[in-house]
Amino acid sequence: MSDERLVLHEIDGHVATLTLNRPKALNALSPELIDELIAALAACDADDQIRVILLTGGPRVFAAGADIKAMVEATPMEMLTRRSIERWARVAATRKPIIAAVSGYALGGGCELAMMCDIIVASETAQFGQPEINLGVIPGAGGTQRLTRALGPYRAMELILTGATISADEARQHGLVNHVVPVEGLLAEAMRLAQLIASKPPLAAQLAKEAVRAAAETTLREGLALELRNFFLLFDTQDQKEGMRAFVEKRKPQFTGR
Ligand code: CAA
Repeated sequence: MSDERLVLHEIDGHVATLTLNRPKALNALSPELIDELIAALAACDADDQIRVILLTGGPRVFAAGADIKAMVEATPMEMLTRRSIERWARVAATRKPIIAAVSGYALGGGCELAMMCDIIVASETAQFGQPEINLGVIPGAGGTQRLTRALGPYRAMELILTGATISADEARQHGLVNHVVPVEGLLAEAMRLAQLIASKPPLAAQLAKEAVRAAAETTLREGLALELRNFFLLFDTQDQKEGMRAFVEKRKPQFTGR
């Protein structure tokens, strides 16, 4: 594993840990970093051994946003044709569950990246916010939509209009963060959750993720239809037969991911 890489990739059993590695720029999300991240996530999705992805920026900072230096002089057409922010949608389209382990700043695109993940474990030092207003812009990678769904319209509006940040505890109270732990325990806690989810049948986990995501993106009728389709589909897996037979036979199931 070379330190030149902008996203480090480690595998432990069925869990892949991806670490943003641009410490001098507080993990600012340059187009090159996002490309590496997307490639790493696609590789995880394609690898049957990987069931859960843990995404972190390390103990000091998660990410201080999109790379401002790469945008200062950009024209709207350059922003459009670079498709750099549009590419972030591929992070949110990852099929396997992603746990974000957030410590320090998760600002702008950093907050948006955390919100593209499925579970957020934060350290006590984590700070979440969308400070784009201070740069003369607004969030562009989903912040106005995902923060509003996570916090409700009034809190999200205040954060986005003032550029203020909230602490890990506040974020947890408002439902944006699942767990808050001391910095030194962050990766262990995120890994504990990742291993727990990785012990479940992976196709069920992926279809559950798709169905839960749909709740925020579709009508109730469409969401219920998707849930039912995924529920029925899982009856085509060996893990469904194994899970139900093991229950009936009063033994522990052995899931294979098929
Ligand atoms: N882009 C590019 N470089 C960044 C950066 C960013 N978002 N955030 C920090 N850096 C760089 C700094 O320029 C600095 O580099 P140099 O040493 O070369 O000058 C280095 O990281 C360290 O940063 P600071 O000296 O500023 O560190 P600090 O501890 O004093 O402050 C901070 C930390 C409060 C996070 C501050 O760096 C900051 O405000 N960063 C910008 C946060 C922000 O506005 N994010 C939103 C970006 S726009 C966006 O994300 C759009 C979108 O929706 C996709």
